[in-house]
Amino acid sequence: MRNFDEFTITDATLQRMTGATSPRTREISEALVRHLHAFVREIEPTQPEWEAAIDFLTRTGQMCDDKRQEFILLSDTLGVSMLVDAINHRRPGRATETTVLGPFFVQGAPEQASGTDISGGMSGEPMLVTGSVADSQGRSIAGAVVDVWHSDDDGYYDVQRADTLAMRGRFRTDGHGRFWFWSIKPAAYPVPHDGPVGEMLQAQGRHPWRPAHVHFMISAAGYQPLVTHIFAAGDQYLDSDVVFGVKDSLIREFASFPAGIAADGRTIARPYCRLDYDFSLKGIEAGELPRAEAAGIAAN
Ligand code: BEZ
Ligand code: FE
Repeated sequence: MRNFDEFTITDATLQRMTGATSPRTREISEALVRHLHAFVREIEPTQPEWEAAIDFLTRTGQMCDDKRQEFILLSDTLGVSMLVDAINHRRPGRATETTVLGPFFVQGAPEQASGTDISGGMSGEPMLVTGSVADSQGRSIAGAVVDVWHSDDDGYYDVQRADTLAMRGRFRTDGHGRFWFWSIKPAAYPVPHDGPVGEMLQAQGRHPWRPAHVHFMISAAGYQPLVTHIFAAGDQYLDSDVVFGVKDSLIREFASFPAGIAADGRTIARPYCRLDYDFSLKGIEAGELPRAEAAGIAAN
């Protein structure tokens, strides 16, 4: 077959895929071609526009290294990551809702005892985080692994500043399913916008900000791992999060307290804030596999 034109090229391309290595590969490849061709037919790009698109994708790839994942950022800012998350977490029931993992999770943070201050000496308003982990019936889960990470009060993660671990840690719930730690209150921050994704946001007339939040990744044997954040109530970006990650059920007051004895018995010489959240994990149903939200995260 030859002499393809704009009316025959789509079917011809689809025909070449009938020998795909698996039915799923064929299904995905065919859908990709159908949607991509429909997109091109709709926008009718000029040749320079097509070249600009190739250049954009090339630079997006070139921006990626072991610290920066511009393609994930592109997926996040186009709403694709939250769409994938929503499709994969339908019907959470009474389980805590999920949101995007984001690029700042670091595998293998050292396990720390509850009560540890993980601020790494960063300055900021002290923050006490207390929480519990239970199943959907409200029964506490002992021994759950709780990974946490968040930004400093300038909106930067440790990995964006230096190679020293700060504002991240791994805790294990006690016999009552509880964990707690100290850190500093995180601030709202712009996602990295000095690359192609930043150019795209600007061209689309969008800001790059995320509301202040603390990330949690919680896993326990027999339960689906939970990847979520808790957002600060009142933040100005709750309704315009650049990655579309906010859900009402994940917003909490980071309540202010004067200096004094905190809920964990520690004496604090300065005013501080407290975030408290009760997490609920979804059990793994018969025939279901534990979801590996990110490589290796369920390893506890
Ligand atoms: C984050 O919350 O760490 C994040 C999520 C998506 C894109 C960039 C950052
Ligand atoms: Fe974040």
